[in-house]
Amino acid sequence: MARILVTGGAGFIGSALVRHLIADTDHAVLNVDALTYAGNLSSLEPVAQSNRYRFARADICDRDAVARLIAEFRPEVITHLAAESHVDRSIDGPADFIQTNLVGTFSMLAAALDYWRGLEGAEKDAFRFHHISTDEVFGALGDDGFFTEETAYDPRSPYSASKAGSDHLVSAWHHTYGLPVLITNCSNNYGPYHFPEKLIPLMIIKCLSGEALPVYGKGTNVRDWLYVDDHVRALTAVFERGVPGESYMVGGRSERTNLAVVETICDTLDRIRPRADGQSYREQISFVADRPGHDFRYAIDASKLERELGWRPQESFETGIAKTIRWYLDNESWWRPILERNYSGERLGLKATA
Ligand code: NAD
Ligand code: DAU
Repeated sequence: MARILVTGGAGFIGSALVRHLIADTDHAVLNVDALTYAGNLSSLEPVAQSNRYRFARADICDRDAVARLIAEFRPEVITHLAAESHVDRSIDGPADFIQTNLVGTFSMLAAALDYWRGLEGAEKDAFRFHHISTDEVFGALGDDGFFTEETAYDPRSPYSASKAGSDHLVSAWHHTYGLPVLITNCSNNYGPYHFPEKLIPLMIIKCLSGEALPVYGKGTNVRDWLYVDDHVRALTAVFERGVPGESYMVGGRSERTNLAVVETICDTLDRIRPRADGQSYREQISFVADRPGHDFRYAIDASKLERELGWRPQESFETGIAKTIRWYLDNESWWRPILERNYSGERLGLKATA
């Protein structure tokens, strides 16, 4: 049993991690989150009553607040997920990405280093700072090849550049100060509680609302999809058993073109929630202006994680997408308030070309 401080635990992946840690392990969790537009405490309702779970609202850029929370909670592990995460928003407004992803990660590292330096013996040896990052830091692939732990960094959007910078800061704190860090770079996640600005939840909700399904460009860009619960099982394996100073690729070997993903959503809904007019949801597909600087393909080779830590995804894309669509059908009470208060599905990410 360990004390795990999770930043960004009210977001999509962070809340899945917190639910997993409380439901499936004995660990205690302090969730530190600023509750930006993407943070949502209702994603934590399943664990909110647990005496192993606590929430603290704080901005990771506020180093004093972070230091106070670390000193009170005395974590064995810090898993750092808090970030601005949406590529289209980074095109329209990069400043928040620089602030949270770079300055915020610096603030977390500075507070973690002060704390770690004050530990002794077994406590000091056991401490880990785990930084959660993305495959987008490696740029774009052509038709062939995979990202590995040896791939050179080549970020191309404001989001991926800010995440690449944060990875470099984390590595520097290991090499320069000896802080025991771990980095994971994961491909596209999907699953329950996913904020509806991202492709999969946006398309499910627009299908149900009878709206056009905006596929960027020709829909030929490729993403490598991983069910979010498989990601959080990988994260747990890495902070429990990973080697400090190392990075690990996480991915589901589930490459799909964006058009294929949208067609799968349409076909699944045609079966389980047919349109009233008997037409296919595919009729709603609409090809729209491409994302500026749109990376063509991401694909992960997760062999190191599989070989060294024995991790394997439990969901295929087919089982995962079926569960996800079912969840959105059954949980309108989670996503409807978001559409009303935070984001109503409008196109983002075109300010660069306006
Ligand atoms: P998300 O946008 O759903 O959640 C981000 C969370 O961070 C929110 O709860 C938000 O309130 C919080 N946050 C933002 N700024 C903050 C600040 N300054 N201080 C404290 N909290 C703040 O993001 P996500 O999709 O869950 O991604 C989590 C992490 O995983 C990110 O670091 C992201 O780069 C990385 N990642 C995401 C994916 C993916 O497919 N979603 C894939 C690989 C890596
Ligand atoms: O690869 C990991 C990354 O995956 C994470 O680091 C990011 O945090 C996460 O947001 C995700 O980034 P993407 O840009 O790949 O995700 P998004 O859901 O925004 O888009 C997926 C693909 O679908 C991408 O090629 C753009 C396209 N797309 C997206 C939207 C929102 C569309 O065609 N139409 C849309 O409306």
